[in-house]
Amino acid sequence: MREVYLDNAATMIKSEAAVQAETDFYHEVNANPLRGLYKKSVQAKTEVDACREAVKRLVLADDSYTVIFTKNATEALNLVANGLILGDDGFGVVEQDAKVVVDIESHHSNILPWMQRFKNVVVSKDLAQDITGASVVSLVAVSNVTGEDLSGRIREARMRLPEAILGLDGAQMVGHSKIDIKALGVDYIAFSGHKFGAPMGVGGLVIKKTLAEKLRPLCFGGGIVDSVSEAGEPNFANIPERLEGGTLPTGAIYGLKVAAKEALENLDFDFSFVSDVAQEMSKNTGVKVLAANDSFIAFQVEGVHPHDVAQFLAEENISVRAGWLCAEPFLRFKGWGPVVRASFSRYNTADDGERLVSSLKKIRGAMGIK
Ligand code: ALA
Repeated sequence: MREVYLDNAATMIKSEAAVQAETDFYHEVNANPLRGLYKKSVQAKTEVDACREAVKRLVLADDSYTVIFTKNATEALNLVANGLILGDDGFGVVEQDAKVVVDIESHHSNILPWMQRFKNVVVSKDLAQDITGASVVSLVAVSNVTGEDLSGRIREARMRLPEAILGLDGAQMVGHSKIDIKALGVDYIAFSGHKFGAPMGVGGLVIKKTLAEKLRPLCFGGGIVDSVSEAGEPNFANIPERLEGGTLPTGAIYGLKVAAKEALENLDFDFSFVSDVAQEMSKNTGVKVLAANDSFIAFQVEGVHPHDVAQFLAEENISVRAGWLCAEPFLRFKGWGPVVRASFSRYNTADDGERLVSSLKKIRGAMGIK
């Protein structure tokens, strides 16, 4: 039985072209993208910068924004949370006790970095009330549990807080939905390349240059300075390099450029078949669909633990994610507890949905539940 892969929100299957671009880099270039003095190094650097532009096109970012590469969206959000705090090193924008608001719907990646670094973090269940007086508001763009597009809330925050630092965790949105970063009014959006078809190992920030200029690097070392002496302050390089210590995952960046182009061409993909799948699932006694949005279905099977559901489906060669989905505060707030999540991508079909529906019909019987 062929595999039905429905864990695309965790990571997407890579296109041949994206994997080929990564492989080609190692076979044909394999140079460090420094401001090198030899051809292949210059070529690698040129391609890295071209990839920044490809990512910017995904969110309609103009030249007032740049792209900082990190390992993934999690590292990107850690970079912002750590980099924003005013210090005597000359970096930062806000005091460590400034009010930071994140939303209860957030993935842990947009909660923990702020809690680790700031002293006054509100995990909000009521943004309209809680954003009052906030210096930083960082929200999830699309929930990794429900697939709900929540990005409009940041636009409302911008109207209320013209001077605050506002940002989005775009891990489930960038490369999947149309985004106009300027219209949203955000200072940064974090993304993970592998979630829209790039090799694992590269993500980052699309960020206002004026803000990036003030951020403290997360990683100090090679590539971030123009000069270093034994005594005194280093002379830091300009952004984006200043915030990208060490050798970049250049092969993955070659793949990211291809994946970003493919994603851009598919932003209009029609996922309406997924809501039909959710409806079919609901007709099945014992299956409770908790949320169905765009390419996501979150559900539970009465009397069967979500991990057992996922295990049963795995035996039917259907891959889904189950548990707290790194969004435990949200699942507790909803009163749902652990869930099963089926997340589709543009290579999935209605047939894949039917396989899921028909396997779910068998599960309670297989578990001895009448
Ligand atoms: N953040 C990823 C997910 O939601 C891993 O599955």
